[in-house]
Amino acid sequence: MPTTAPEVHRGLAGVVVDTTGISTVIPETNSLTYRGYPVQDLAAHRSFEEVAYLLWHGELPDGAQLREFRARERALRPLDRTTAELLAKLPETCHPMDVLRTAVSFFGAEDPTEDDGRPASGLAKSLTLLAKLPTVVAADQRRRRGLAPIAPDPDLGHAENFFHMCFGAVPAPEVVRCFEVSLVLYAEHSFNASTFTARVVTSTLSDLYSAVTAAIGALKGPLHGGANEAVMHMLEEIGDPARAADWLDDALAAKRKVMGFGHRVYKHGDSRVPIMQAALDELVALAADPGTTRLAALHAALREAVLDRKGIHPNLDYPAGLAYHLMGFDTPVFTPLFVMSRVTGWTAHITEQLAHNALIRPLASYDGPEQRPVPASA
Ligand code: SDX
Repeated sequence: MPTTAPEVHRGLAGVVVDTTGISTVIPETNSLTYRGYPVQDLAAHRSFEEVAYLLWHGELPDGAQLREFRARERALRPLDRTTAELLAKLPETCHPMDVLRTAVSFFGAEDPTEDDGRPASGLAKSLTLLAKLPTVVAADQRRRRGLAPIAPDPDLGHAENFFHMCFGAVPAPEVVRCFEVSLVLYAEHSFNASTFTARVVTSTLSDLYSAVTAAIGALKGPLHGGANEAVMHMLEEIGDPARAADWLDDALAAKRKVMGFGHRVYKHGDSRVPIMQAALDELVALAADPGTTRLAALHAALREAVLDRKGIHPNLDYPAGLAYHLMGFDTPVFTPLFVMSRVTGWTAHITEQLAHNALIRPLASYDGPEQRPVPASA
């Protein structure tokens, strides 16, 4: 009986593999909600700490819960000497995502507490990562600039403290707000590649640090989180707004992917882009120098050209990449900034996977050689 080859869903495009109550991406209405709250409203009215709490606990914190959450996060920010010395030994030629991946792996190696699968222990580890990853990223950026690390300041909020550790100062409130908006928007996005990676690792009942380390590896790729860094390299390669259309024609002719554009789920535009673009526009207006104005003009010209020639919309990485550049972060740090935020979504999914676990093990359709006898050894 000839068997028909099973239908293959390459890249799992359009395949529903499980349920989740954490967020939902609704392409038809081009919207995204975290635990039922529209991300636009959260980005406009809530802090990243409140959104992290929401993703982990399912509800926004009340005053007392937020005060307690913030106090615990601030106390966890410092790195111990062993960690700081280990990370300082990594070659400056390695990518900052490799430093972050190593840091999380090391946190797991030195954490004596058992991964007992209970939500409470997972939440404690998740809060540790939320608190410590910015300290790792800031110290690494300073190290590559030949500067000593700056200790975290427990009197500052999460976003302000990150600028303090990176640059020794907290910028204008508009700049901090723009950064906080990016953290809220990057926090969670259902079963994207890195989140699904974390769920696959968790489904074997491996530990949280292994799942987050694997997710960092997945996010690093330019088809995923690495795109925000690639956007900046692309804008620097084009240089002049007047060159955008010709550059694009050459890129498309060479079958290059235009970084920061397109999306597997959104086909009429990424719901997060208008909010991030508005925050970017504020940054541009605040800077108001010729270089920034030219970069913004190039950014707009390329966006129009891609829409015109390919009908493809920008994703969050497109405005976020330029915004991070204008905030003063080094380009290779952009995807680590994505990790600092998405670690909240990843760890919420790790907890959810454990709550109703099933080992993730799909099938494959075999297209190799028919069965054959092993020849006698020569
Ligand atoms: C993120 O999943 C998530 O939610 C991810 C994310 C999150 O929050 O976690 O939103 C974050 O990863 C955003 C995506 C960042 N990546 C990039 O910006 C890299 C550039 N984008 C493309 O590589 C692409 O758009 C993907 C990978 C994002 C999505 O690709 P799909 O859904 O697999 O679509 P495809 O590659 O099959 O493209 C369909 C068509 C193709 O044309 P044809 O070959 O059929 O003629 O559209 C074209 C593609 O060539 N196309 C692009 C393009 N994106 C799609 N052509 C040029 N440049 C692009 N960016």
